[in-house]
Amino acid sequence: MNIIFMGPPGAGKGTQAAVIVKELGIPHISTGDAFRLAIKQETPIGVKAKEFIDQGLLVPDDVTNGIVEERLAQPDCEKGFLLDGYPRTLAQAEALDKMLAAMDRKLDHVINLKVDRDKLLVRITGRRICRTCGATYHIVFNPPKQEGVCDIDGGELYQRADDNEESVATRLDEYGNKTAPLLAYYGDRNLLRDIDGEQGIDVVSQDIVSLLRG
Ligand code: AP5
Ligand code: MG
Repeated sequence: MNIIFMGPPGAGKGTQAAVIVKELGIPHISTGDAFRLAIKQETPIGVKAKEFIDQGLLVPDDVTNGIVEERLAQPDCEKGFLLDGYPRTLAQAEALDKMLAAMDRKLDHVINLKVDRDKLLVRITGRRICRTCGATYHIVFNPPKQEGVCDIDGGELYQRADDNEESVATRLDEYGNKTAPLLAYYGDRNLLRDIDGEQGIDVVSQDIVSLLRG
């Protein structure tokens, strides 16, 4: 199954992707995670991406498309993939169409996690991530058993550098101006599936699973 998760920053894409890839046995491809790893490793892509990510701006399309094209060519994507946070511009969506056509593949579903803008800031500023395994928590909505410590592997929980009010405002504007138009792009092709992302984490997962099994 070839799936895209769309939704504004903080909508729950990463949280739900972690559940769904386990259920379906397909790889989770998050361009945001790929950039954060490149930044940590100080690769040339990481150095370039950091300038944009820290400000909440989108990384240029050519850099982002290159990362995805390389990743989709890996053998574990043959059984399907879940793209989280890609595409985010019309140019990226068109580039993805070309990549998939060259691989003789098609998209099955574009899942749109709908959450009102006023709920997103609380979600994002309360997010904590495990430094070792990347598991996502929320200090109120999904707290770890022990504050600051990952339930899974005991790793230290940290806050993303771009999870501050200033970059969140820019990220939301970038989403509205550049990414939201993709909803019509996929809607016109009858691929868009809306999910109410304001429900509890488990209910959202159940809704996605039923849709995919549907
Ligand atoms: P990226 O890492 O993709 O960030 P984002 O799109 O801003 O989305 P988030 O990861 O912030 O939110 P999410 O939807 O995954 O929410 P989560 O599940 O964590 O991108 C970062 C940056 O990289 C971009 O700004 C850009 O610069 C660059 N970039 C990435 N992709 C790019 C591309 N394609 N092109 C160009 N640039 C690109 O949940 C959020 C919080 O809410 C968590 O604390 C979670 O526990 C909690 N939560 C989740 N679900 C619920 C629920 N149902 N109820 C209550 N709380 C919930
Ligand atoms: Mg995410």
